[in-house]
Amino acid sequence: MSGIISSFPASCGAEVTGIDFTKPLNEGTTTKLNRAFLKYAVLVIRDQVLTPKQLVKAVSYFGSIFEQQNKRFCIPNCPDIHYISNQERYPDGTRYIPGAGFHTDHSNDYLPPKATVLLAIRLPDVGGDTQFVNMCAAYDGLEPKTKKRIAELRAVHIYQSTHSQRKLMDLSKDNPRYVPKSAVHPLVRVHPETGKKSLYINPIRIQRIIGMSEEEGIVLLSDLLGHATQNKYQYRHQWRFHDMVIWDNRCLLHKANGDYDHSQERFLYRVMLEGDKPV
Ligand code: SIN
Repeated sequence: MSGIISSFPASCGAEVTGIDFTKPLNEGTTTKLNRAFLKYAVLVIRDQVLTPKQLVKAVSYFGSIFEQQNKRFCIPNCPDIHYISNQERYPDGTRYIPGAGFHTDHSNDYLPPKATVLLAIRLPDVGGDTQFVNMCAAYDGLEPKTKKRIAELRAVHIYQSTHSQRKLMDLSKDNPRYVPKSAVHPLVRVHPETGKKSLYINPIRIQRIIGMSEEEGIVLLSDLLGHATQNKYQYRHQWRFHDMVIWDNRCLLHKANGDYDHSQERFLYRVMLEGDKPV
């Protein structure tokens, strides 16, 4: 069995060294990594110099690949992998920073991805961190009366909420992937593997909460987000070249920071893994 796992002094996350995904992993190491993934929710696996094919193999130790929604970001000859790049522009010419603003990935799907994996290929000299929020800890930290208030609530998630402060890149008309118009998910979900409860909110995709006016729902979501994103629930990842980071979308929010010199490229490969229906 190989790999050394050291937890970060934060609400979630651990560093993993001594793993080489260019070579087959034995069963003991695979089990150890998957247990660590459930325990820490974010694994920062250092020093992974991988081709796209090797990345596909590496993520297969954690699950099956989820087909991403917006196919315009596929990398050539390997459609399972998408890219994240600060060199993209909206049609009006302004810069597009993928992943800015706290969110969980693709929650407008009926079965949103359980995990997302990023592999750092090119990074700015300074900045461009990714922040993660432990939504189990955030849920545990809510007042009992708030827990009671939200216990049975469900939210409607769409591709792009009209309340979102970040504009997503539009789906092209010939986007080959079917993208659900909307999906309804509970505000509090139970992790299918750990059994822990977490807040499941997404400011980019939630349009409304069932049984509330849109305004009332947005106020509640904004209060929950303010509570959840306190520093005590966060881990902030400063990227190093060849970091492969995998995180659990079922119990985390994350966001990219666009706080760096945009003449420098930030380019990462991105893969997601299939998940379950949130309950
Ligand atoms: C994402 O939201 O999937 C990207 C996060 C990042 O680029 O740091």
